[in-house]
Amino acid sequence: MLDVSGNTDALNIFLKINNENYNLTIKKNWTLVHVLREVLDLTGTKAGCKTGDCGSCMVLIDGEAVESCIYLAKNADGKQITTIEGLADGTALHPIQEAFIEAGAVQCGFCTPGMIMSTKSLLDKNPDPSKTEITKALERNLCRCTGYIKIIDAVNLASQKMKG
Ligand code: FES
Ligand code: FES
Repeated sequence: MLDVSGNTDALNIFLKINNENYNLTIKKNWTLVHVLREVLDLTGTKAGCKTGDCGSCMVLIDGEAVESCIYLAKNADGKQITTIEGLADGTALHPIQEAFIEAGAVQCGFCTPGMIMSTKSLLDKNPDPSKTEITKALERNLCRCTGYIKIIDAVNLASQKMKG
């Protein structure tokens, strides 16, 4: 991470996002969700509360689910970021995305990218989670619409799909 000459408020950082390399000049106080949405136009990551309370902005940083609204972009320098845009393979949805649709776990959809990223982090580490483990993994993600039951069904379905 370098201070950009003549501007003490700016930094150059390197991010690997969805397997693409980005060299960016940012301000020190920019959050990661700001960079994703406003600089890179990766608007699949949602910005809800912006206080770390709703999980709609969840992304993976080196595989861990992180609220990008309370994570400074400068702290992501050199790290691997995965956003919801990084899951599909061309036009083929990721099995977790398919599972959320098939289980009816999406209503307004605002929470869905964050739910899916938390699910991805869980299933990458624990391919066969119990209901308790699913609930724990999603406890930082709020949904106003679904009542959570279909979301838990979706995670179970995704688990089955990913195990083949
Ligand atoms: S927008 Fe980040 S936790 Fe709500
Ligand atoms: S589907 Fe609307 S907030 Fe979750």
